[in-house]
Amino acid sequence: MFSLRGALRFLGTSLLLLGADAASFSNPLKDPNGSDPYMVYVDGYYYLTTTTWSDVQITRATTLEGLKTGEVQVVWSDTEPSRCCHLWAPEFHQIDGIWYLYYTAGTSGDSVDNQHVHVLQGGSSPWDSYSYLAQVTPEWGIDGTVLTIANQNYLIWSCMANGIQCNCIATLDTPSTIGETHILSEPLEPWETVGAPVNEGAAPLYHDGSIWVAYSASYCWTANYSLALLEYDGFGDPLEQSSWTKSDGPVFVSADGNYGTGHN
Ligand SMILES: *[C@@H]1O[C@H](CO)[C@@H](O)[C@H](O)[C@H]1NC(C)=O
Ligand SMILES: *[C@@H]1O[C@H](CO)[C@@H](O)[C@H](O)[C@H]1NC(C)=O
Repeated sequence: MFSLRGALRFLGTSLLLLGADAASFSNPLKDPNGSDPYMVYVDGYYYLTTTTWSDVQITRATTLEGLKTGEVQVVWSDTEPSRCCHLWAPEFHQIDGIWYLYYTAGTSGDSVDNQHVHVLQGGSSPWDSYSYLAQVTPEWGIDGTVLTIANQNYLIWSCMANGIQCNCIATLDTPSTIGETHILSEPLEPWETVGAPVNEGAAPLYHDGSIWVAYSASYCWTANYSLALLEYDGFGDPLEQSSWTKSDGPVFVSADGNYGTGHN
């Protein structure tokens, strides 16, 4: 079941990169263990990190195609029982000049009921070494990402609220501490509830003064796992659900032999 989740989420890699120069690479860029991809381009290098389940790895190369044979660094693995295992969804974020790596981890065994968002502190380059900083979400939480609006950082993650898996948001007061938890979006529409009601895998998008949060909807091992958008109204409190408008339906769905559009 977990490898199927990985396989479905892996497809996100292909779709993420369709907009780039198609002539310069062929998919897949990372196989196996290419699910939950997150990439930054810094000082001439692409830095890619993905879910391996067992550790946090970074691959770097000067071209997208080069990532297939790029330099690989294992930047984190852990034997502490509360966060040893099920390492998911790593992401780099630069805050005040320092790179932080947010990731999800929990306990050993089959259960993923103990997943929390954690953060590693790196240096001034994404390639510097990382050390453990803190557990960020007090309750169950996965897929942490950082949203910035008007110089205020927010953590968005997938949480359990009202008994279902929602997107939550809180101010990110320091790189490792959050304020009060608010529900950002709930899986209430038919296209968000296939297999199970799920909102997860949030990714902020900024363009031409507008701000969106793309997220994954429905259960990740169904073909209806899809991407949808929340659009910020431009003036309201980002912590309030009323400041965001959900797309009328998903914006990326299964098609042409690609199933379950994954974690963008
Ligand atoms: C790839 O993922 C599997 C679980 O799906 C894990 O057991 C394995 O260690 C991962 N490989 C690497 C190189 O991390
Ligand atoms: C699930 O996906 C199938 C196949 O693409 C589609 O026909 C169906 O409408 C989807 N269901 C929902 C609730 O969106």
